[in-house]
Amino acid sequence: MVFRTSRSFRALVSLTPAVFLAACGSDYPQTTFEPITYFGRLQNSLFSNTFWWTIGILVLVEVLIVFFAYRYRERPGQPKPKQIHGNVKLEFLWTVIPAVIVLFLAIPTIRGIFEMQAPPSEDALVVEVIGHQWWWEFRYPQYGVSTANEVVLPRGREIDFQMYSADVIHSFWIPRLGGKRDVNPQPRPREGEGRRINHLVYTPQEEGYFLGQCAEFCGASHAIMRMAAVVVDPAEFEAWTARMGGTPQPAVPQDTQSVRDTIGASQRPAAAPPAAAVAQATPEPAPGSLEAQGKQLFTSRPCAACHTIKGVTGGVLGPNLTNFGARHYVGAGAKPNTQEWVEAWIRDPQSLKPGALMPGAHRAGGGMGPTNLSDEEVRAIATYLRSLK
Ligand code: CUA
Repeated sequence: MVFRTSRSFRALVSLTPAVFLAACGSDYPQTTFEPITYFGRLQNSLFSNTFWWTIGILVLVEVLIVFFAYRYRERPGQPKPKQIHGNVKLEFLWTVIPAVIVLFLAIPTIRGIFEMQAPPSEDALVVEVIGHQWWWEFRYPQYGVSTANEVVLPRGREIDFQMYSADVIHSFWIPRLGGKRDVNPQPRPREGEGRRINHLVYTPQEEGYFLGQCAEFCGASHAIMRMAAVVVDPAEFEAWTARMGGTPQPAVPQDTQSVRDTIGASQRPAAAPPAAAVAQATPEPAPGSLEAQGKQLFTSRPCAACHTIKGVTGGVLGPNLTNFGARHYVGAGAKPNTQEWVEAWIRDPQSLKPGALMPGAHRAGGGMGPTNLSDEEVRAIATYLRSLK
């Protein structure tokens, strides 16, 4: 018995470093420790400042406790030690020292909070972030562009995220960009009442693909409400907005800028982009191809009622699918954007994302009956969608 205990003890001891070393791997796409914005670095520095102060206090207190417990332990036959009551010097000291430490924590923190809440600059790129159960809508009012789940951002330009929700509370969090902010339902504002728009303002300084995640429990598929920031070169960003059929929009007064009257305003069409831009957004499939078949099905079946493809369809209940082929995932991070998974999604979205509002081929969803698409039709639609890039 003793032998077995010591063996499991040895196993435990040898496993402990393994557990700690497991944290030293390199592939953490959602780490907060490698921020690509000043905002993120500032948050990080506040974290490490607090962390190291508290670690210092922890070590000091623990060492003293162990030392005194050992040094002044009870010994047999020892007389009762002298009883002490009150020591002004000591009490003064242990009040002043923590107060000074609190100052070292509080001053940078308060300064950091003000820096992180600074209003956006005049030429910031406004991106409206709208949380839906369970996907993300992104609108670029300055360009008349709308997209879903993957937010494309230019490197080096300040971004003003303006966030609200179409249903319940969500939370917008792309760890490597920094910040995590609640995305609150936005009821039609009453007379004289402020809007419930949350902001995050920061400037991505590195190109790449940065994963994020809804960070507030919002229902059955909260865990499958993912998003990503795609940070690109500024010229590439301009090309992307053009590809998305967008054109720079006339500036609107600051107080109403981009903040729509209601969620329903998404139904209001943006200024019509030039036909050439739309054609670029949505290339016409070759006649007779599987893509052409898919397009024909997409526009004539229930798909069109909920999804927009710029220049093709105009539904607004579901994610905008313009340029869908360029996305990395289907279903807001549910599965990789491969032919197989896109077909699986169209066939039965609820098997991949419980509670999804989209109906499947043989299953009702979101108040709509099954789409009754055959496997061949599903294949054609998936092929068409994946060709949009
Ligand atoms: Cu949206 Cu959790």
